[in-house]
Amino acid sequence: MFGRKFLAVASFGLLASADWPRARGNSQVFRDPLTYGPEIELVHLYYDEFPTGIAVSSTGRMFSNYPGGLDANNTNNGRNRKYTIAELFDDNTERPYPSARINNPPGGAINYTTYPPTGANYQDYLIGSQSCVIDSADRLWILDTGRVLTPNGTLVPASYGGPKLIGVDLETDQIIKTIVFPTTVAFADSYLNDVRFDLRPEVAAGGEGVAYITDSSVEGRNGIVIVDLGTGESWRHLDGHPSVRPELQWSASLWGVPLYQLRPGQPFTYGAFGSDGIALSANGATLFYKVVAGRQLFSIPTARLRDNSATSEVRAQSAINTHGQTGVTDGMETDTNNFIYHGNMEQDAISFFNVRNGTDTLFVRDPRLNWIDTFSTGADGYLYFTNNQLVFGPGFYPGTDRRERPFSLWRVQLPNNGTKPILM
Ligand SMILES: *[C@@H]1O[C@H](CO)[C@@H](O)[C@H](O)[C@H]1NC(C)=O
Ligand SMILES: *[C@@H]1O[C@H](CO)[C@@H](O)[C@H](O)[C@H]1NC(C)=O
Ligand SMILES: *[C@@H]1O[C@H](CO)[C@@H](O)[C@H](O)[C@H]1NC(C)=O
Ligand SMILES: *[C@@H]1O[C@H](CO)[C@@H](O)[C@H](O)[C@H]1NC(C)=O
Ligand SMILES: *[C@@H]1O[C@H](CO)[C@@H](O)[C@H](O)[C@H]1NC(C)=O
Repeated sequence: MFGRKFLAVASFGLLASADWPRARGNSQVFRDPLTYGPEIELVHLYYDEFPTGIAVSSTGRMFSNYPGGLDANNTNNGRNRKYTIAELFDDNTERPYPSARINNPPGGAINYTTYPPTGANYQDYLIGSQSCVIDSADRLWILDTGRVLTPNGTLVPASYGGPKLIGVDLETDQIIKTIVFPTTVAFADSYLNDVRFDLRPEVAAGGEGVAYITDSSVEGRNGIVIVDLGTGESWRHLDGHPSVRPELQWSASLWGVPLYQLRPGQPFTYGAFGSDGIALSANGATLFYKVVAGRQLFSIPTARLRDNSATSEVRAQSAINTHGQTGVTDGMETDTNNFIYHGNMEQDAISFFNVRNGTDTLFVRDPRLNWIDTFSTGADGYLYFTNNQLVFGPGFYPGTDRRERPFSLWRVQLPNNGTKPILM
């Protein structure tokens, strides 16, 4: 008995290894289909600078941002004509927006007269933008982190004037508002990452609505910044709370490849990106947020963030909801279905969290998906998203640039005739 059993096991092992190459070519064998869901359509190819964000207006104008904080070749050095915000055109070209002038600070984005070098302090020029978003009134908002990389990949600290929120009227292409963050709200080592808007007059004292911003700083003072768009006043909540902090020893795999973060002149380490992706529920009552270096989805009633009274921070921390793990995600977005769309990068997928039934659902899966950086819900019923190979770039181990141009912008039709929610 023992002998026969042993022989059976042994021959199974031999057969299995001999069979394997043939089995892989046999369509009868159960395998991962790698694709799922509605068709994704290519919208734009980026041949020049490395993009992260996408914003689509009600008339179909499209804008992207190109952070010098994630690619040293996006950094303006005062001689290279760069852009950190551009409008996209049909023939896969991009034009600096709202002007070439504002995208080219005199002397560049870095102030080399300080030691160490710092982000330039211009309030009327863009230093390094990490996101651009179109609000419910169809205005473009540019979020400037005030930080960029030096040629050797060092992220310079911001100077007052760099970190700011700039509003642009899309009819006149003119700047209508500039809100500069105090150094107690945007620290020198903050990284203001993504932003969402609620323009309902009653939500803030200034009567012009509110913005919510994530601070994803890898240096570690993560939190959520709230801005009264009417008064220009801003404040922070959830500073240092585990829900905005990277998980310890976090690593993810993309296309099967494990990711570690590089630091110039130091040993590589685990990824440490804090609160980054952000999305409002369709009615503006709840803010969903995630860190990149973690897999948990969190939310908080927005009323708890807008409150800045003496007890507001302890009440905010007590009001956080945890929704379980939903995969590795960068940007997030909402539609009128009240689905919270998010990348699920380790699955080459986009999923959505259904606020109504509390579960996460697979939406699209495609082997062409790599790093789904940012989403924008269009008024045309499509979900637009950038696919930018971020983690194959020089900031990740082994540090050789494995990205291949072009980077790409895609769209997919929203389910159930979903469209952009309007909050005004
Ligand atoms: C930046 O551009 C230079 C010149 O084209 C190239 O050699 C280098 O690899 C690029 N670096 C990155 C990080 O893209
Ligand atoms: C550069 O730093 C110096 C010293 O702090 C300051 O006086 C100057 O205004 C800064 N210039 C820019 C463009 O940031
Ligand atoms: C990188 O460049 C910055 C600015 O020039 C310099 O201060 C720093 O020492 C350099 N770091 C490394 C690791 O070479
Ligand atoms: C939750 O909602 C999604 C989207 O409507 C649906 O696909 C899924 O089946 C629902 N899950 C359950 C368990 O009802
Ligand atoms: C979407 O809208 C079309 C046209 O108004 C309608 O015929 C269709 O039933 C809608 N589909 C869903 C799933 O609501």
